Amino acid sequence: SLVTMKYFLEKARKNKCAVGAFNFFGLENLRGIIKAASSKKSPVIAMASMGALKVMGLDVVVSAARALSQEYETDIVLHLDHCTDMDLLFMCIDHGFTSVMIDASDKDYDENVRLTRLAVDYAAKTGCSVEAELGHVGGVEDNIVVSEREALFTVPEDAEKFVNDTNIDALAVSVGTVHGFYKLPPKLDFERITAIHTRTAIPLVLHGGTGVSDEDFKKAIGLGILKINVGTELKVHGYFDVMKNTSLAVKDSDPRKVSTAIVDACASIVSTKIEVFGSRGIL
Ligand code: G3H
Ligand code: ZN
Repeated sequence: SLVTMKYFLEKARKNKCAVGAFNFFGLENLRGIIKAASSKKSPVIAMASMGALKVMGLDVVVSAARALSQEYETDIVLHLDHCTDMDLLFMCIDHGFTSVMIDASDKDYDENVRLTRLAVDYAAKTGCSVEAELGHVGGVEDNIVVSEREALFTVPEDAEKFVNDTNIDALAVSVGTVHGFYKLPPKLDFERITAIHTRTAIPLVLHGGTGVSDEDFKKAIGLGILKINVGTELKVHGYFDVMKNTSLAVKDSDPRKVSTAIVDACASIVSTKIEVFGSRGIL
């Protein structure tokens, strides 16, 4: 069944590992993620972005997540990723999402707190978990210089206040990663992760997992990161490229061969991450 993020992150904390959170863009994607979780006996968080929801449909996503969780006999979290629309966030909670991220990280502190508290209060009705972001994780394509990027890093003192002001279940931090493929390898600010962790003791979330080295992941996990988001790698190497290349290679126009190839590619990427994050066998 669908379980809360809070429950999985508590498990990760006890087992000194992190839970992988993977974006899906279609049903084959979602199936691959859940298939890997099941075969590795690992928790996973399946994440729908606002864009993915628009394409797939809210009811389809919730029904599919429930059905696949049953089919593969494994509990999963269904999470709404980077939501900037309160009405959509409330709707996802009403429809059975077990975790949501309210992303007001581009707003000023007070407005971020206000919107995050609205999400937390609403989620309390169903027990849905809530993630919020302080500081701002940008995109590779944002094209800003390093010093400007660092201005958006999470300030440990602010994080402590934010967590107390909002009562969230997990905090997304800006500590050197960005969304998308990196042009240069990212430099993670491990001291900052430690400082935030020391002050807040809340599960921390690392966004922009695509392209981060296994070594950096392991180091970050030891310092308080309990959830790691991976999106672009699945979108491109788990889905788009596989669809494109398999379509060209298959000679009998059989779409099922493309579907199977996507499921397998996604499952393989997720399995690899589960090993790195250390969450195999803890379910
Ligand atoms: O919220 C989603 C993640 O932060 C994905 O980042 O696409 O760089 O892996 P990524
Ligand atoms: Zn993200």
